[in-house]
Amino acid sequence: MTEQDKVYIFDTTMRDGEQSPGASMSVEEKIQISRVFDDMGIDIIEAGFPITSPGDFEAVSAISKGLKNSIPCGLARAKKKDIDACYESLKHAKRFRIHTFISTSPVHMKHKLDMTDNQVLDAIKESVTYAKKFTDDVEWSCEDGTRTNLDFMCKTIELAINCGATTVNIPDTVGYSIPEEFAKTITHIKNNVPNIDKAIISAHCHNDLGLAVANALAGLSAGVRQIECTINGIGERAGNAALEEIVMAIKTRNDLMPYETGIKTELISKASKIVSNATGFPVQFNKAIVGKNAFAHESGIHQDGMLKNRETYEIMSPESVGVKKTSLVMGKHSGRHAFKDKLSDLGYTNVTDDVIQEAFGKFKVLADKKKHIYDEDIVALVDDSLIVDNKINAINLKSLKVFAGTGEPQKAEMTLDVFGDIKKTSQTGDGPVDAIFKCIKELYKHDVKLSLYQVHAVTEGTDAQATVSVKIEENDRTTVGQSADTDTLVASAKAYLNALNKMLIKREKKSLSENIEYQKVKEGV
Ligand code: KIV
Ligand code: ZN
Repeated sequence: MTEQDKVYIFDTTMRDGEQSPGASMSVEEKIQISRVFDDMGIDIIEAGFPITSPGDFEAVSAISKGLKNSIPCGLARAKKKDIDACYESLKHAKRFRIHTFISTSPVHMKHKLDMTDNQVLDAIKESVTYAKKFTDDVEWSCEDGTRTNLDFMCKTIELAINCGATTVNIPDTVGYSIPEEFAKTITHIKNNVPNIDKAIISAHCHNDLGLAVANALAGLSAGVRQIECTINGIGERAGNAALEEIVMAIKTRNDLMPYETGIKTELISKASKIVSNATGFPVQFNKAIVGKNAFAHESGIHQDGMLKNRETYEIMSPESVGVKKTSLVMGKHSGRHAFKDKLSDLGYTNVTDDVIQEAFGKFKVLADKKKHIYDEDIVALVDDSLIVDNKINAINLKSLKVFAGTGEPQKAEMTLDVFGDIKKTSQTGDGPVDAIFKCIKELYKHDVKLSLYQVHAVTEGTDAQATVSVKIEENDRTTVGQSADTDTLVASAKAYLNALNKMLIKREKKSLSENIEYQKVKEGV
């Protein structure tokens, strides 16, 4: 592969993706996601916007310490204090990138920044030059690029490159462009910025008109060599270009797009699941590449064709994105060794012995209740154990009894371990789940808004495990809890408690003004 053919994949799931309303991820979740991204071959991971919160600062810092291959990156406005925060959070990494941006469109300059052309040019000069003091790897973005006057845009890009930017990113911030126009913009930049050969051109496309992937790929044919994208396409408003679609389009239509990304596509499905779990955003069934139905062939004609030759209806194999055929895996007589092998087959190579032990215990219980245990069941069990492994649970479910059905009001009886105290209550509610959540609120008084309650069957059949996701909000904090169980109501109680335990951790972190580096940067403003 020559440098000409290489397309850098810049993932912004944990920065732009996290800007989706309600998609917040905890530091621990971001660290787990970053490990998958690192293994997957993502070139640059934009881990956050460090100045915006201690949580973002901490996440960028923790991620930058752990990456083996990917380059960590932080976002900064054209302000010294933002760039300082980036440096302080990234400095532990061998190599890192600072990404600084300013708006260049007339509408943003007038109404958002209240700055003239010359003031914006001065800010670019100052910010890129300042970022360059900390690292050779500086990316500069002209926010709202696709609504920017082309001559002015060329001036800003030339200046950013002269000041040391090695990547220049052209965002379609409001998802306004169409493929032909976006390609023309890139061609214009290539033909009119005299020093453009000193930088990589990047595309950052939003999906407001459903054209993010199409625009980014059109940019590619015109000279873009870095694409900014997110797993599952999450991001501001309608989201960003979906990483999995970009990568698989390049791989599948390599005859027309003869470029290489270096992504291990077999890890795409795993990345999609981990991001969906952390954000609580389900993946739509018909979502390209990672949707549940993306490789399902329902109609008789299609099934017949597939049996004769897969190529009749399949342009890429499910295995190429890490989707394995659902297989009947194990039964109640399977031992710990076979279970461990299965986990490694499913991609869980880094889990601790404690997690394996915990998941194996749950597997044995499940095998007594459920005749057929599938790969998906095992994945749900391990994910559930990983949740427990990563959190110090202050509040735990000891027992639950639910009275549901017609006639009487639904009632739950619950025992919880609350910071070591065993407490009991019984509550009625508008349905069993309401009664359960009321019990939790009674036993540990708190006031949060429930913004999501969602149930998914892990496999088919009435004995399937249910994965329940619960999202709660308190002031500016959001947490997502999850749990899986064959009893949907038990999973509901555990998922709520998981979200609540995470909220307690977040509260504690906020009250401990322990984030010294972050404080230092803030105070130095
Ligand atoms: O959409 C956008 O313009 C951005 C920039 C910060 C790159 O996210
Ligand atoms: Zn964006």
